Amino acid sequence: MASNKSPLKVLVIASEVEGLVKTGGLADVARALPAELVRLGHDVRLVTPAYAKTRAVWSQWPHQSLCVHLNAFEETWLATRTGEHQGIPTVQIEHSDSFDRPGIYDNGATPYEDNARRFALLSKGALQWCRDNDWQPDIVHANDWQAALACFYLAEHFRYEPFFAHSRSVLTLHNAAYQGQCSSGWLRTLGIHEQFFHPGAFEDHGQINLLKGGIRFADAINAVSPGYAAELLSDLGSHGLGPIFRERADALSGILNGCDYGQWSPETDPDIPAHFSSPNDGGKARCKALLKQELELAEGEAPLLVSISRLADQKGFNLLIPALWETLRSTDAQVALLGSGDANLAAQLHRLAREYPTRVAFVEGYDNALAHRLEAGGDVFLMPSIFEPCGLNQIYSLRYATLPLVRAVGGLKDTVVPLADDGTNSGQATGFMFADPTPDALITELHRLIRVYQEQPEVWLDMQQTAMKQRFEWATAAKDYVSLYRKLLKVPRH
Ligand code: ADP
Ligand code: GLC
Repeated sequence: MASNKSPLKVLVIASEVEGLVKTGGLADVARALPAELVRLGHDVRLVTPAYAKTRAVWSQWPHQSLCVHLNAFEETWLATRTGEHQGIPTVQIEHSDSFDRPGIYDNGATPYEDNARRFALLSKGALQWCRDNDWQPDIVHANDWQAALACFYLAEHFRYEPFFAHSRSVLTLHNAAYQGQCSSGWLRTLGIHEQFFHPGAFEDHGQINLLKGGIRFADAINAVSPGYAAELLSDLGSHGLGPIFRERADALSGILNGCDYGQWSPETDPDIPAHFSSPNDGGKARCKALLKQELELAEGEAPLLVSISRLADQKGFNLLIPALWETLRSTDAQVALLGSGDANLAAQLHRLAREYPTRVAFVEGYDNALAHRLEAGGDVFLMPSIFEPCGLNQIYSLRYATLPLVRAVGGLKDTVVPLADDGTNSGQATGFMFADPTPDALITELHRLIRVYQEQPEVWLDMQQTAMKQRFEWATAAKDYVSLYRKLLKVPRH
């Protein structure tokens, strides 16, 4: 058994990885955590699908064929491609029927109907790659529903396989609202025996729920913030999975994500027009002026409220849109939004921008460089999420002295210190927070922060300086993961 210092073999399975394919924060974490584990000296393999979008990368890598048995009746031939992605040894699972498609999870409107099988091939393929290459993982680290089946396959399909006898699984929950539900007709294909199709494992109102099965079979489960881990045990915050989370409460922990300050620092960021190391050294003001020019917003002293987000109900647009209408009517605030996703939310944001052409800019789309310019040029970052497992943008905002306005939920609560009602927590406060998921509660906090911005510039500056000093290092998070891994290796399998 590995000593407390010996390097661990960690197999990380994720459906998206920054620099290859990204739809959200999962991708940031699936690159940053393995990179940090490699830096700490661990032996890592990062396994992801070989999507059509990244063919130019993986088609250059050597390939090997791999025969995968999802069930006892059929075999599927895949290829694996091995290479290096940003210093991380990476294995891509190539299966053109599954991954040679324009989308990652959906065709633009609806999820692919065979998603369960596609990601089952990723999960089982990752484990079989280990066996074929005699690479014995200490830890199989699965991320979200797409990789959850790996925990089940390790626990049941490979139950009596000496090769995997000492391997343990960790399932990280980046977003437990996405659960990978599919019809029970897939049971046989996925190799899930009927004995596991009950409410204590895969069954969920007559359907298969892949995340739920993963939660049942993983040796450890962790959420991406302590706050979210606690919420998952409640009925309100568990996305309908309260009973299974409570059953596995002993195995559930929270590890806060880190921030890659190599990419998100105003002193060095190559995507912003002026660098700054303090909120008032002129650099941030220049970033704001140029951003307003770029987005054709009116000149002046008004506070600039920014947002970068997937357009999804999770992010609180049902509070934000009415709150913005009211705030635009009653103050001189300006708004700059970047986002893609739900067409209906996009239409509502376009309407707002049409109504206030010199005060509201909405850029529909996905644009990493613009995301950096918004972080640097904004005064306030809006993140009124209904739920938020961790949230990365509020962490980036702190570093750029763009004070976050967040709802008191999940990782937002764990990373932002709100200005006290009496304003006395100077040196600690880094943002603004409201609790009730209602437009009125958000409006009240928006008005308050605009007053502080306009009437108490010294308080604002103090908060910005405190915000810029905050650090959420990946080195810390990675060490917490390694402690979790080592703890698991000392105990029998769940
Ligand atoms: P989630 O993963 O729920 O979408 P996070 O805050 O954890 O939320 O991470 C979102 C990540 O995706 C951040 O790195 C953010 O900058 C990025 N992002 C989201 N939407 C866009 C967009 N439209 N353009 C550029 N980057 C975006
Ligand atoms: C998810 C969550 C987000 C989290 C990210 C990375 O997409 O919605 O809150 O920061 O995963 O863990």
